[in-house]
Amino acid sequence: MTAATFETGLVNALQPVRFHALAIALYQFFETGLFTYLKEKPCTSLATVSADLEMDSWRLEAFVLYLRNEGYVELDENSRVSLSQTAIDLEPFRPWYTMMIGGYTPTWMGMGKALMAKSGPAPRDLRQVGVGSCGISNYDAIPLTRRLMALSPTACTRLLDLGCGNGMYLVYFCLALEGLEHAWGIEPSAESCEDARKLVTQHGLDDRVSIIHGTAASALKVDNELSPNFAVIGFVLHEILGQAGRQGVVDFLKGLVGRFPELSLVVIEVDGKLADIKHMGDGLGLAYYNPYSTLHPFTLQKLESPSFWEAVFHDAGLKILACLTTDTNVDSTGLEIGYLLRCAD
Ligand SMILES: C[S@@+](CC[C@H](N)C(=O)[O-])C[C@H]1O[C@@H](n2cnc3c(N)ncnc32)[C@H](O)[C@@H]1O
Repeated sequence: MTAATFETGLVNALQPVRFHALAIALYQFFETGLFTYLKEKPCTSLATVSADLEMDSWRLEAFVLYLRNEGYVELDENSRVSLSQTAIDLEPFRPWYTMMIGGYTPTWMGMGKALMAKSGPAPRDLRQVGVGSCGISNYDAIPLTRRLMALSPTACTRLLDLGCGNGMYLVYFCLALEGLEHAWGIEPSAESCEDARKLVTQHGLDDRVSIIHGTAASALKVDNELSPNFAVIGFVLHEILGQAGRQGVVDFLKGLVGRFPELSLVVIEVDGKLADIKHMGDGLGLAYYNPYSTLHPFTLQKLESPSFWEAVFHDAGLKILACLTTDTNVDSTGLEIGYLLRCAD
């Protein structure tokens, strides 16, 4: 066993700093397009990479050497660079980097100021939160929504996605559900609306999908042509709860089913269990839900328990037709919960 020295203590103490730098570097690896480039063109010289991607060759070399030292790229004797297996294995998890690093790094940096009494919320990058969240949903919330939809007595033919982020749900459901005639997405971030319109166009769905810039509440007010028979509200009620309080959520849900009485709703929420060390102390709890749940009070979002939401649904005149959690292969914590709801008779 090595004797403890100042240096061994320092190495231990610097592990969070090392991983802080690494998480941001991996986010940039994806965002700059370097990852995708190397995936498509392995074994390319640094000179060619910098020319093709119009990157500064000196800084690119430093970035690539840093990633090599951390085990994410390999360099041969002729300075040709390729992704390592570790990097290839990382790709499915990119959306977690998009949301937690791209979306919420400003929040962590603003946390000290926002901790003070009478301070406002810390900033976040809503566009990256939307893109990342939708990417994560691809693995957990979208399959959960499908399982809940399959339990509905009515088929989804006209879908409304409230807080649609980059529009991934809308595209997914248009492609997955043959009987889906039209889908509407409502989203308050102008940049996310831009992303959503682009994604819809890329998939040739302009005639089946409309993106509306506004809050979920505006779906009730605006003079628009909405006629949904199904709504998905994925990780958005806790946003409305932070913005408008419990009564605000109840009034919003009442207004929604008041305007569309035949509506079936799928609501996806995260059980707020930050105080429960059993859930937060290891595995996905420690790796994801602990930081994720901590960010919420700092950005005007309020995670709550299933019993809280069930009482809200009751007060809004909704009945619960089904309640499920994620596939345990993806997330075994049981913290992500989906409800299928309809107007109580
Ligand atoms: C965590 S993301 C969820 C994105 C997507 N629904 C999903 O399931 O992955 C939360 C989204 O809610 C949006 N949002 C925030 N406040 C909202 C409100 N009052 N009405 C509708 N959407 C809202 C945010 O802009 C963001 O795109």
